[in-house]
Amino acid sequence: MEKVWVRDVGPRDGLQNQTQVLDPKQRLQLIQALLSAGLTQIEVGAFVSPRAVPAMAGSDHVVSALANTTGEFSVLIPNEKGYDLATAAGARHIAIVVASSETMNQKNIGMSNEQAFRFAKTVLARASHDGVHASCYIATAWECPFEGSINEDIILQQAEVLIAAGAKEIVLADTIGAATPQQSATLTNRLCREFGSALIACHFHDTRGMGIANAYAALESGVRRFDASIAGLGGCPFAPGASGNIATEDLVLMLNQQGYDTGISLADLATAARLTRQWLPGVGVAKSTQWIERQIEKGAL
Ligand code: COA
Ligand code: ZN
Repeated sequence: MEKVWVRDVGPRDGLQNQTQVLDPKQRLQLIQALLSAGLTQIEVGAFVSPRAVPAMAGSDHVVSALANTTGEFSVLIPNEKGYDLATAAGARHIAIVVASSETMNQKNIGMSNEQAFRFAKTVLARASHDGVHASCYIATAWECPFEGSINEDIILQQAEVLIAAGAKEIVLADTIGAATPQQSATLTNRLCREFGSALIACHFHDTRGMGIANAYAALESGVRRFDASIAGLGGCPFAPGASGNIATEDLVLMLNQQGYDTGISLADLATAARLTRQWLPGVGVAKSTQWIERQIEKGAL
């Protein structure tokens, strides 16, 4: 069976947008539940201004508590200060976030495009020197809530710059969940052909219910690395109209049924999702939850 890597970004993308803030102990319990389900890649926090994103305060505690736990625990970095704080806390995997458009960079990290790419290159050089694994997110890779649809050529150029600067992975983020499956297919096809699929990952939000179709289209183009959030949590506080990520349960179910190896247990994911809903009562269920729970009741999972 061919392997597909699923990274749960619920403890970061998911929690950052909740009005109810979980404390680091609860965040660690959620991370443990995801590890128990077989996830090995988890985005565990963000080193951002606690005023801008209160839910991510205490990410240093989360990172240091995971120091002796096996797994790839990435943290989001919006600027060089974030890199300093993350590495001081012991982070070994960072996720640099830049956006495709000028306005989104301004709204998200308070930088122009030029400043954002300069920051990315500086941090990539530092990460390479420090032996820190660095991924780069290109936010609003298909559509920006402020500037509209984004030309594919721009994303290709931006990915090329980031890879040349040392990015170990380019994560194409559909921040507001606006891409169509056709657009997902064409962009991921071009990037996989140009740079090789090992360097490309996708991060889909499900605002229009198209997230799993977009993931399937990217899969068909050769992408083998995907982000998702437990229980479909997620959303960007700085991108109007963004809703949750594709749910990890839905993505893993689709991949399993398509015959890919994810190493993730649906039954144990359901346990993590129940924990999430217990703490965050406003959170809905994934599309597949009812079916998964029925299989668990029948002893079929
Ligand atoms: N971590 C913690 N604190 C930080 C920080 C970081 N990475 N970067 C800046 N700060 C602090 C500064 O020290 C300053 O604190 P002070 O007022 O107590 O002195 C305060 O934040 C403002 O700093 P400034 O440089 O003026 O930044 P800003 O107000 O323009 O905000 C960001 C810029 C990037 C820090 C802020 O917009 C942010 O954290 N955004 C998060 C983006 C995000 O998480 N998006 C969702 C994911 S896509
Ligand atoms: Zn996101």
